[in-house]
Amino acid sequence: MIPKTCRDRVVAPSLLAADFSRVGEEVSRAIRAGADWLHLDVMDGHFVDNISFGPAMVQAVHETNDIFLDVHLMISRPDHYLDRFIAAGSDLVTVHVEAEHDVAATLRRIRAAGCQAGLAINPATSLETVKPHLDAIDLLLCMTVVPGFGGQAFMDEVLPKIRAAAALRDETGGEWHIEVDGGIDAATAASCAAAGANVLVAGSSTFRAPDMAAAVTSIRNA
Ligand code: DX5
Ligand code: ZN
Repeated sequence: MIPKTCRDRVVAPSLLAADFSRVGEEVSRAIRAGADWLHLDVMDGHFVDNISFGPAMVQAVHETNDIFLDVHLMISRPDHYLDRFIAAGSDLVTVHVEAEHDVAATLRRIRAAGCQAGLAINPATSLETVKPHLDAIDLLLCMTVVPGFGGQAFMDEVLPKIRAAAALRDETGGEWHIEVDGGIDAATAASCAAAGANVLVAGSSTFRAPDMAAAVTSIRNA
């Protein structure tokens, strides 16, 4: 697998929108549909008001597939659980800047373990908060909904922040991906890509589309 750069368009279906009664088949379906990465939303019922799945799910997908695993930790203490998610086979681990941890130390530990490191910010969080960490990240995730649940409406008001992140990356010569997550379909993917995002996470609009391959292609070409 050739690693993706921030100049590549990456479509990452979110497993949260899959049919949990047949997860293995759902992952295969995403791969056949042309998914570049698989996005795994980990929720602890504390950082967000929903509980999804933990490292056992990451490990099950890792052991049965080769797809790049983009693991998004929406949990209060990412530092406490980090080693388990890395051991489970994550390729990239994203933690929130708003969570309770030493962000710089957590990012260092992710990279030291040989994983790529992502940093996520909620819609209400300023880009200023990530500036001290730009040398330590492989991906900046700009949430385009308030995290917690799939199927929410895309928040247009995040677009200026995506543009500012892309400008900041240009100014600093950074190579980090800009990922968007929440309410992404072909139309909102087009706005995000125009603003500078290259990794497009999409749950409902891919797993719940009548034709998943067509949905993935339309997001990639948006
Ligand atoms: C939001 C999650 C998203 C979610 C996206 O809390 O982080 O990844 O699964 O789902 P859709 O694409 O349905 O908005
Ligand atoms: Zn996510």
